[in-house]
Amino acid sequence: MCANARPRILMCSPEYFGVEYVINPWMADQTGKVRPREAMSQWSALYDALSPLADITCIAPSPHQPDMVFTANAGMVFGDRFVPSRFRHQERAGEEAHFACWAEHAAYAITPLPDDVFFEGAGDALYDRGRPVLWLGYGFRTGLPAASALRDIVEPSGLSVQPLRLVDPRFYHLDTCFCPISGGRLLYYPPAFDPESVRRIEGAVPEDQRLAVSEEDAEAFACNAVCLNGAIVMNRATSGLKARLGEWGLRCVETPLGEFMRAGGAARCLTLRLDEPEPVAA
Ligand code: ARG
Repeated sequence: MCANARPRILMCSPEYFGVEYVINPWMADQTGKVRPREAMSQWSALYDALSPLADITCIAPSPHQPDMVFTANAGMVFGDRFVPSRFRHQERAGEEAHFACWAEHAAYAITPLPDDVFFEGAGDALYDRGRPVLWLGYGFRTGLPAASALRDIVEPSGLSVQPLRLVDPRFYHLDTCFCPISGGRLLYYPPAFDPESVRRIEGAVPEDQRLAVSEEDAEAFACNAVCLNGAIVMNRATSGLKARLGEWGLRCVETPLGEFMRAGGAARCLTLRLDEPEPVAA
């Protein structure tokens, strides 16, 4: 994990993407409504926005896995280890074998969690970019028992696992309402968390380092952002949010992802960072 290496990302082309079942509120009434050409062009635009910032690898899409495009949910990378997801919903369980096979070929050491533990990878497990903390969203997809299983993996390297309970079904994965940014900064949508979790976040991250987004920005998936080298790539942001991000020296890149929001995902969900944890500047 050399500090100067280019970031690496995994994506999956949306050839077989669609809404074919309903496992989150965004998918309700969207079955069969995805426009495949529009989805492909939105995904390609995201790819083009990210490719100057990172080296992108693509996993082959699979015909019966319409949500496989959301590679954030493949698992969690920890150095040379890959902790595979165990999906809460049977609808996505078929993706597990594809992602495990990819990770093996990519020479990761597969480190599974116990059989009965639900875990949805980097959708729920996000590394802080300024402190040795792995934030873990739980409640809708990942279960709380994943916290102690992940502690066994990351604590020997000096990282703590901080569980955050998600309470708003629209924000069912941590990456839909929480985005760690370099230097230990944070975008978050406080109402997505229970009061104790909000206290936990606000106790760890000083006020001038966190930005609570409005409901309007949260609903446009502004927290579901990919932050790389001073750019923050997302579906959409209000002018107020863009101005705040600008004060932090971040260039906001908007790339519309409406077809993917029908399935409840946007920029961050469509990527998996492969060089984690990112080296934290001293
Ligand atoms: N339809 C997918 C699901 O409900 C969307 C996943 C979005 N991924 C994410 N990392 N938030 O599982």
